[in-house]
Amino acid sequence: MSDIDDLQTHLLTAIDAAAGLDALETCRVHALGKQGVVTQRLKTLGAMTPGQRQAEGPRIHALREAVAGALAARKAVLETAALDARLAGERVDMTLPVDLAATGSIHPVSQVMDELAEIFADLGFAVATGPEIEDDWHNFTALNIPETHPARAMHDTFYVERTDGQGERHVLRTHTSPVQIRAMLAQKPPLRIIAPGRVYRSDWDATHTPMFHQIEGLVVDRGITLGHLKWTLETFLKAFFERDDIVLRLRPSFFPFTEPSAEVDVGWTMRNGKRALGGSEGWMELLGSGMVHPRVLANAGVDPTEWQGFAFGVGVDRLAMLKYGMDDLRPFFEADGRWLRHYGFSALDVPTLSAGVSP
Ligand code: PHE
Repeated sequence: MSDIDDLQTHLLTAIDAAAGLDALETCRVHALGKQGVVTQRLKTLGAMTPGQRQAEGPRIHALREAVAGALAARKAVLETAALDARLAGERVDMTLPVDLAATGSIHPVSQVMDELAEIFADLGFAVATGPEIEDDWHNFTALNIPETHPARAMHDTFYVERTDGQGERHVLRTHTSPVQIRAMLAQKPPLRIIAPGRVYRSDWDATHTPMFHQIEGLVVDRGITLGHLKWTLETFLKAFFERDDIVLRLRPSFFPFTEPSAEVDVGWTMRNGKRALGGSEGWMELLGSGMVHPRVLANAGVDPTEWQGFAFGVGVDRLAMLKYGMDDLRPFFEADGRWLRHYGFSALDVPTLSAGVSP
């Protein structure tokens, strides 16, 4: 065997034995580095006679090729092994029980919406929805609020500019009442729906934010009266506040889409120096309601000589504040972890009528 064959055997054995990428790099430098043994051999070619070079050249280049090939092959093996080891080390068994404390919580608005859906489902109401970017017709016109009506100014509307410059004007819905129209157009009466969701008005103080939440209620059937409205609201509020002594007061009011209209107040009494719901020492305004205006029924394709309806709209955030004791609305939407930890609910506190709607 020639010394070149010896050298190749020696180098390839060392390469195959390299235990890690660092050891392999040492082999590479030893063989192919600037001062490497193979590099040295290549350098000897320059000093050879043409005859020698013709004989030795191919052998030395073959040596270099063999060593480079062995280095690459070993490197691939070691890298795969390193990756496998890392993957094995980082393996997570998803079937093991979690032993971390759960972080994050259910926002009070979500919790209250779930409570409301549960209460109204028990009364036979289905959940309906509509878009938050609403057209003028559903948000205003169909609800008996024509273009020139001063009630449009009452709502501090956010208008949405159309990029195509044509077609109907859109708004961020100022209330959930447009879902009344959508529900009546989508299904024939009798119907009983609630529509929870976000609404928008240009307003900002301790009890007003530009985005807030409402829940709309709508019942359309034959022979519906104000009595049905009052019973429904009483039943809902007693279930929601979990008190039998909830007292309601209906005060004449005005909404273009209801006739007659009633503002509903809920009674409070002083307990431990604080106003608490229940009884009737004083009153606080809670929600708007009324009998669906015949023109609104007709606008939504319902014959007002055959069908009557009642509707109400209530602030979900306000309900949450009253039930869970927050006095400022703004932190609801500031995503402050401390507030969320304090007022949030466990994901396991799912409201059910059997287990109680409150945690
Ligand atoms: N849409 C009214 C508001 O936002 C509330 C309401 C709903 C009043 C349904 C009557 C009937 O103020």
